[in-house]
Amino acid sequence: PLALSSGWRRYCAAAATPTGDAVGEFRRRIRVAEVKGGEDQGAAWVGKELTVRGWVRTCRAQRTVTFVEIDSINTGASVLVEGVVASSQGVKQKVELKVSKIIVIGESDPTSFPIQKKRASREFLRTVAHLRPRTNTFGAVARVRNALAYATHKFFQDSGFIWVSSPIITASDCEGAGEQFYVTTLLSNSAEGGCLVNSIPSKDGRVDWSQDFFCKPAFLTVSGQLNGETYASALSDIYTFGPTFRAENSNTSRHLAEFWMIEPELAFADLNDDMACASAYLQYVVKYILENCKEDMDFFDTWVEKGIIDRLNNVAEKNFVQMSYSDAIKLLIGSNKKFEFPVKWGLDLQSEHERYITEVAFGGSPVIIRDYPKEIKAFYMRQNDDGKTVAAMDLLVPRVGELIGGSQREERLDYLEARLDESNLNKDSYWWYLDLRRYGSVPHAGFGLGFERLVQFATGIDNIRDAIPFPRVPGSAEF
Ligand code: 4AD
Ligand code: MG
Repeated sequence: PLALSSGWRRYCAAAATPTGDAVGEFRRRIRVAEVKGGEDQGAAWVGKELTVRGWVRTCRAQRTVTFVEIDSINTGASVLVEGVVASSQGVKQKVELKVSKIIVIGESDPTSFPIQKKRASREFLRTVAHLRPRTNTFGAVARVRNALAYATHKFFQDSGFIWVSSPIITASDCEGAGEQFYVTTLLSNSAEGGCLVNSIPSKDGRVDWSQDFFCKPAFLTVSGQLNGETYASALSDIYTFGPTFRAENSNTSRHLAEFWMIEPELAFADLNDDMACASAYLQYVVKYILENCKEDMDFFDTWVEKGIIDRLNNVAEKNFVQMSYSDAIKLLIGSNKKFEFPVKWGLDLQSEHERYITEVAFGGSPVIIRDYPKEIKAFYMRQNDDGKTVAAMDLLVPRVGELIGGSQREERLDYLEARLDESNLNKDSYWWYLDLRRYGSVPHAGFGLGFERLVQFATGIDNIRDAIPFPRVPGSAEF
């Protein structure tokens, strides 16, 4: 038949396709750090011709030679340099480039860059650095963040999990905490100067969402978990890794309004499986950056947090401990330490309590607290037989506090419906989630890890706002 004849197809192609120019071959750019950073510190490159493109870090003119140090992320003019790699007599490096040609690509006036003024405020430094990440810290954080993301995918892919993209726009509130940003087009139809309040459609004094884009209230997601559970019920183990939004007005060093979350969901799993997965995952990514980001980790150890490499080595090697919420409360009361917030069974643990447990009581090790009172946890967590607690777990780490929050899910329909009622949540909007139980479910469990808190933990930086390139926090959505 005509359609399958390759001769006919070739004839058609020749007749219809105009000739164009070939697209060039993609070639990976080698970094200066890769040339100098190998086991032999670049010795194998001696005698080879190289062209280097980068920014000038330092420039020292001597009588007969001038030394130019070039970096891939730094201050100063950008240049293209050609030359031959030669052994170096300097103590700081094994090789250097004997230059035959220098072309200045972009000039720079260092004095006009406020970041170089020693007394610039921290906030201002941060602002400039976000416009153009020129400092060593921002480069190192960006590279380690990238390595952590790669290691995350590698861990879950190698463990047989399937990556699922959960929706960013959603109509349900996963955490039931009402900390959601609305997604609406009701405000956009405005005359000059902004939306007229009177033009927002209303019914009985309230906004009439039936006239909105989705014909009901819609939000930016606070978690992909409920969607993840749906996929795990069909495909077995899955994970999500995507942006997450919370409209909580927390101006702290560990809260963002927009952050990235990794949420694995394990089918046929209970809370013990969940804790084991969380521990193995955290140890894997920590080991990965210690092995693959040596230069950046040395930088953090010297300039950001002394001893961070030892601390992370410990995390990667030592088994984590777990204890119940009730035992944690006893431990806190027994410590006789004066806390700002009260310690009492039934009250949530505050950051100061979490930090005391990991930093003081367990000497800097990660600790998992499990079986929290049901009143302080989300509706989807599985009730324990005591009727008072749920199969929840929080993994706490020094300095950051809660890094991971997870649970075994309530797979029993009647328990789940009762919890939705108790929590004053509208069962109708969770109909599909309830159907997962109504038509048969299996025990399953999962957790969420805040990616920027992981970056904070892995680099030693103080503020979570430095863990993401363009932070969004209350009162600030710059750039
Ligand atoms: O403990 P959370 O609220 O748990 C959930 O969202 C569950 N649905 C996860 C699951 O079981 N699939 O959030 C999980 C983690 C926290 O432990 C914390 O690391 C991080 O997300 N997180 C934040 N990170 C930065 N800024 C915020 N405002 C954060 N809120 C939570
Ligand atoms: Mg939590």
